[in-house]
Amino acid sequence: MTSLVKRFPANFVWGVATAAYQIEGAVTEDGRGASIWDIFSHTPGKILHGDTGDIACDHYHRMPEDIHLMSQLGIAHYRFSISWPRVFPMGYGQKNSRGLDFYDQLIDQLLQENIEPLVTLYHWDLPQGLQDKGGWMNRDTAFYFRDYAEAVFDKLGDRVHAWITHNEPWVTTVAGHVQGRHAPGLKQAHVARKVAHHLLLSHGLAVEAYRGMGKGRIGITLNLHPVYPASSQEEDLRAQRLHDAFHNTWFLDPVFKGTYPQELDEILPPDDKFIVEGDLNLIRQPLDFLGVNYYAPHRVRWNTEEISHTSLVILPEEPITAMGWPVDAKGLTDLLTRIHHDYGPIPIVITENGAAYDDVVQDGQVHDTSRQHYLEMHWNALAASLDQGVPVEGYYLWSFLDNFEWALGYSKRFGIVYVDYPTQQRIVKDSGLAYSRFLRDFQEYHHR
Ligand code: FCB
Repeated sequence: MTSLVKRFPANFVWGVATAAYQIEGAVTEDGRGASIWDIFSHTPGKILHGDTGDIACDHYHRMPEDIHLMSQLGIAHYRFSISWPRVFPMGYGQKNSRGLDFYDQLIDQLLQENIEPLVTLYHWDLPQGLQDKGGWMNRDTAFYFRDYAEAVFDKLGDRVHAWITHNEPWVTTVAGHVQGRHAPGLKQAHVARKVAHHLLLSHGLAVEAYRGMGKGRIGITLNLHPVYPASSQEEDLRAQRLHDAFHNTWFLDPVFKGTYPQELDEILPPDDKFIVEGDLNLIRQPLDFLGVNYYAPHRVRWNTEEISHTSLVILPEEPITAMGWPVDAKGLTDLLTRIHHDYGPIPIVITENGAAYDDVVQDGQVHDTSRQHYLEMHWNALAASLDQGVPVEGYYLWSFLDNFEWALGYSKRFGIVYVDYPTQQRIVKDSGLAYSRFLRDFQEYHHR
């Protein structure tokens, strides 16, 4: 480990990440309105085992202890998200100050424990009041998002100096509006381009608002994948090209270049009725960093039955996680060098990386060696990216706690801290202890 810590600069940021709906619970408390995830998770058949985020990790009530545990592990950076319906129960109109108070206290708690916050404004929990007006299909939602962002900047901006507008707008667009496996559960491919555009527009509006109000840093988080062809056949090379457009450049190009990739037209019929003059200039405003969520590469083959005309291939010899995702750390290096080459120079922060495994508690301990392996391999891959000149500034491990893994409910555990849901007991897994040792080594080496 000591040799690994040497490969990172002294100011490299190491943290952990969570998201509001996945951990908070307390869904009707202190004036919170309903989000699309409350409605979706309470719709029979949508979530595995009928799980909901009603209680989740009960973090809303256990916040001080959770933050204290974080600090005991030596974690000095924390990425979390704000629940929009706590701040504006309907999404617009009346503001709910009690909702903001929770985050106010959370931030004070963090600062007291010497933990630096990185705040995500939107991690998928749109207020249902806005969904009732068309949600992200309605352009107005982008402007309501700006109002919400301004309210948050205003209240917390004196202590929060790093912001993320959106988490993974691809997932909101495709899982939420095309595949229907996430809230709001629509299967309407024809709205996808419009939804993506409105999400990006709202990002641009929030960045613009922040430039007028705050002096900290702001960026966006995208879920990105290196894309490899399953074979060197013409068809699979075409699959690689289209898949990359669908998963990566659909969001990277507008944010950094102010254009949408042409290849997208081969997947989703061209449509720009919803683009208003000036939108793309708002969307491509200079950012302070790009947040990258990386879990696995995509190896693809041609398949016209899929919307993207591609399907994923897992090699028989490849190790996979409990999500069925291949473990391939080199993919992270490939991805980062590519982003740097095509869109840089832009500082990069890994805002999520981690793995689900079927953890078991044995005598009060969790020996999650597979997760430890996964993490160490990815830290090495990160160091390799730095060696190749990619300006990576930080890494947030997904996740601090086991939590509500969206459509898969509580069946998938990503935490470095185990949560026993019936008792809400927290057990630091071996991976959590290993991260803690790694952070201590890092501190000792760089700051002794
Ligand atoms: C990402 C999400 C995060 C979590 C991980 C496993 O797509 O941003 O909330 O569910 O996947």
